[in-house]
Amino acid sequence: MEKPVIQVKDLYKIYRIGTNKVRALNGVDFSIEKGEFCCIVGTSGSGKSTLLNMLAGLEKPTKGQIVIAGEHIESKNESQLVNFRQAHVGFIFQSYNLMQNMTAIENVAMPLTFQGVSKWERERRAIKMLKLVGLGKYMRHRPGEMSGGQQQRVGIARALVVNPEIVFADEPTGNLDSNTTIEVLQLIKKISQEKNQTMVMVTHDNYLAGFGDRIIQIRDGKIIRNVDNREQARLQMEALMNGTASMPDPGPFPQTAETAVPDAAAAPQMPADPTAPQTESGGEPDTQNGSSGSIWDEVNETIKNEGDTQS
Ligand SMILES: Nc1ncnc2c1ncn2[C@@H]1O[C@H](COP(=O)(O)OP(=O)(O)OP(=O)(O)O)[C@@H](O)[C@H]1O
Ligand SMILES: [Mg+2]
Repeated sequence: MEKPVIQVKDLYKIYRIGTNKVRALNGVDFSIEKGEFCCIVGTSGSGKSTLLNMLAGLEKPTKGQIVIAGEHIESKNESQLVNFRQAHVGFIFQSYNLMQNMTAIENVAMPLTFQGVSKWERERRAIKMLKLVGLGKYMRHRPGEMSGGQQQRVGIARALVVNPEIVFADEPTGNLDSNTTIEVLQLIKKISQEKNQTMVMVTHDNYLAGFGDRIIQIRDGKIIRNVDNREQARLQMEALMNGTASMPDPGPFPQTAETAVPDAAAAPQMPADPTAPQTESGGEPDTQNGSSGSIWDEVNETIKNEGDTQS
């Protein structure tokens, strides 16, 4: 078993609005192992974003401990937190948060400017990341010239270009249709696995959470379930890859209106498993991004060529 890379102990976040107290996090304890893909689920207002922001050092807890990669982040000051984030953390946002006047390359290269990487090297790494997310043809496009799914892939490339140890994602597929959602989720999962990165993703969606190695459910600022979902996640991914996922698995949690799984009829097309032998009839044409080949051709090609450059 890997050792925990994230440890949270007795964590509280209390917001005071006038005389009103909101216990956004109300005594939370858990740990996440290195390389784990952890999904945090819960209804709106349950405290998911608050928890993620605290883990990423974007907000201060009221009380409690957060140990990440051996460092206590609750006791760091603002400039220490900035350094910590630059050294360890990537963040993927629901609304992409791209700079509108910059090209995809410039957006992805940006985090490297804070690391003192030369312009030539920044560009080289940004191009490599964009190819890795299947955007080789869109590198000189600005966000306004790309679809939502393409913009989110730029967001993923930007989060991963610094090769962070931990990637946090808050509803990264919240603005995407169901096909693009699965494509983006698989991309995140695949890249983080390749690089043995730890991934913490917040989602409303029980089916998506079913791809997590670990699922943590919160309600009213407390953890009500924390399950090892490794085996289920593997089966769910296998079913998706094989095209046998006719009904999304309801997952380990009871269905409620808020955690309803997406319509089975809207089940996405499966990208080809890069590790599976190629067959003549295997690949469906990718109608999502309007190109003739699937993004996975480009992604797989880039991964194959990864060996020759350090990441
Ligand atoms: N800056 C803030 N000031 C005051 N209250 C806040 C603040 N941020 C969050 N809250 C409150 O904390 C609780 C948890 O909010 P949080 O944003 O973490 O929920 P969430 O689970 O991410 O919800 P959603 O799924 O809608 O994004 C909510 O009751 C919210 O109103
Ligand atoms: Mg939220």
